[in-house]
Amino acid sequence: MSKNHFLHISDYTGDELWEILKLAKQIKAKFRARENYNHFNNKSLAMIFAKPSARTRVSFETGFEWMGGHALFLGPNDIGIGKREAIKDISRVFSRYNDMIMARLFDHKHIIELAEHSTIPVINGLTDYNHPCQIMTDIFTVWEHLNDIENIKIVYMGDGNNIVHSWLHLAMRFPLHFVCCCPKGYEPDSETVEKARAAEISKIEISHNPTEAVKDADMIYTDVWASMGQKEEAEARERIFKPFQVNQDLMNSTGKKTLFMHCLPAERDREVTDEVMESDYSIAFDQAENRLHVQNAIMIKLSKR
Ligand code: CP
Ligand code: NVA
Repeated sequence: MSKNHFLHISDYTGDELWEILKLAKQIKAKFRARENYNHFNNKSLAMIFAKPSARTRVSFETGFEWMGGHALFLGPNDIGIGKREAIKDISRVFSRYNDMIMARLFDHKHIIELAEHSTIPVINGLTDYNHPCQIMTDIFTVWEHLNDIENIKIVYMGDGNNIVHSWLHLAMRFPLHFVCCCPKGYEPDSETVEKARAAEISKIEISHNPTEAVKDADMIYTDVWASMGQKEEAEARERIFKPFQVNQDLMNSTGKKTLFMHCLPAERDREVTDEVMESDYSIAFDQAENRLHVQNAIMIKLSKR
């Protein structure tokens, strides 16, 4: 089942992931030159959003239309997936209209169910559990900036959330040194951490000490302290997460040249200072651009399976 969909990075082999990254590099140049690329002529992509989005919506829609297809935006108030209608019924109906589905949902079980009943590829555009398109993009961006990704040290500061789970899935396939530095009680899912360690490909650490964690980091990465669906906890989390803010002092304490990454949207002066966001070592907007190119590559690969 998983081979026809893009639900988790770890559903793919390292070689398959590299193929996606290399294709993304090729088509990035084509998109930038606005070359015609009619891979999806007369095809349609249904984009289901149960949560808000800027990058995922605009990059998928722009990318699919650039490749000659038509993308349909279905927002939180449109189809009522799982509320107005059963998820498996949406899968079966859209499989008859469309050629691909991209969905951003709350419960991870729901995207699995959507995929199980779909005869067309389903792409995970974020769930409460993971965000595979983002982290494929992130490693592509790291590759562009460092020309290499082997054994680089990536320190994620903040909540052990969906972003972290996808980094852990990537660490099962590519050799990395990945550190999740979070407050106690906000660690990533322990089963996912165990699986990533058991793969014995990467070095995985969980830390609660920001200045120690960032030593020798090639990248410092952060994300919002309260994810979509947790915004009512934002105030309480702010006090707990404050010591984990990425600011200039933290960037200065790595002992080497370190790049800053953020999946966006950023809440400036919470998880990251405005100064770090605006600095020339921030590659957050390269990441945002690359969502488009990497997702285009993912869609092309899925269409050929
Ligand atoms: N990074 C990301 O997925 O952004 P959006 O939530 O705006 O889509
Ligand atoms: N962890 C964030 C990521 C947003 C792209 C969220 O789920 O809201």
